[in-house]
Amino acid sequence: MSLIEVKNLNVHYPIRSGFFNRITDYVYAVDGVDFEIKEGESYGLIGESGSGKSTIGKTVVGLEKATSGQIMYQGQDITNAKTRHKLNYNQDVQMIFQDSLSSLNPRKKIFEIIAEPLQNFENLEGKALHDRVIELLNTVGLDEDAAYKFPYQFSGGQRQRIGVARAVATNPKLIVADEPVSALDLSVQAQVLNYMKKIQREYGIGFLFISHDLGVVHHMCDHLAIMHRGRFVEVGTKEDIYNNPQHIYTKRLLAAIPEVDVKNRKQHRMKRRQIEKEFNEDQSKYYDKDGKVYPLRQISETHFVALPEEGGQ
Ligand SMILES: Nc1ncnc2c1ncn2[C@@H]1O[C@H](COP(=O)(O)OP(=O)(O)OP(=O)(O)O)[C@@H](O)[C@H]1O
Ligand SMILES: [Mg+2]
Repeated sequence: MSLIEVKNLNVHYPIRSGFFNRITDYVYAVDGVDFEIKEGESYGLIGESGSGKSTIGKTVVGLEKATSGQIMYQGQDITNAKTRHKLNYNQDVQMIFQDSLSSLNPRKKIFEIIAEPLQNFENLEGKALHDRVIELLNTVGLDEDAAYKFPYQFSGGQRQRIGVARAVATNPKLIVADEPVSALDLSVQAQVLNYMKKIQREYGIGFLFISHDLGVVHHMCDHLAIMHRGRFVEVGTKEDIYNNPQHIYTKRLLAAIPEVDVKNRKQHRMKRRQIEKEFNEDQSKYYDKDGKVYPLRQISETHFVALPEEGGQ
């Protein structure tokens, strides 16, 4: 069943300039995207810096206003704050940010940080509250000691796990995770991702997982959307995207994943150069005359790619 359905979403930011501070143009941060996240599914949103990923994430949680389009939740459009309130949307949908230090209140101990949503949304108190906080900490591999410390007393990876525990506290249906591991070392990234995956499975929570790195989301996401210049260039299952990429931009992101096997490094480097060359020289094949991404075209039951009808592959 569909958990959330995004329909023709546009988020345009006005650019003001001149003496009168008039609107002279717009940044088309999100320029007509459609997607659907099913219950308990992990959906990946991938693209380079500035492609519009965070803007989508923020609009889905209600932190940013949609210019037009709809975000359907339980049959109603939640781009309207009143509807979000009516549906308890702010409880059902949580967000995890990249920077855990600034997203956790530095003056509060971890117990208070995790207890807050439980008190607000679930009316828990006393022993029940205490037990639930410890249980949530345990779920992300931390023990009771952690509850009585401040955020700065933890490593980045531990803090991000605390962020996960807090997000899960309200029993959400969807967690929007915006580059949740980008600030962490590679070894720690895997550990935090594993906790997220475990939580997703145990609680059946849907994820909108945002990253600039296709390597990071490989084990996380069932479905992926590759984003460039405010639009989707390619959408498909994990297999479609990793084993059968069609758009040059997707290929470029895949080529950017470091090759671990030393034997294949030279070959990988050559392939990356070739793709980079094609990306720079053959723009007209993959983008329209204004440099815009083409509309998506269906090429299999699950796979969509933004290429002109006759051209491309
Ligand atoms: N509040 C804002 N006002 C004006 N422009 C904005 C605003 N927020 C974002 N933008 C612009 O919208 C575009 C998309 O930004 P967004 O933060 O969604 O990108 P992103 O894909 O998340 O990038 P990154 O990987 O760097 O986080 C960028 O060109 C950005 O400069
Ligand atoms: Mg971002």
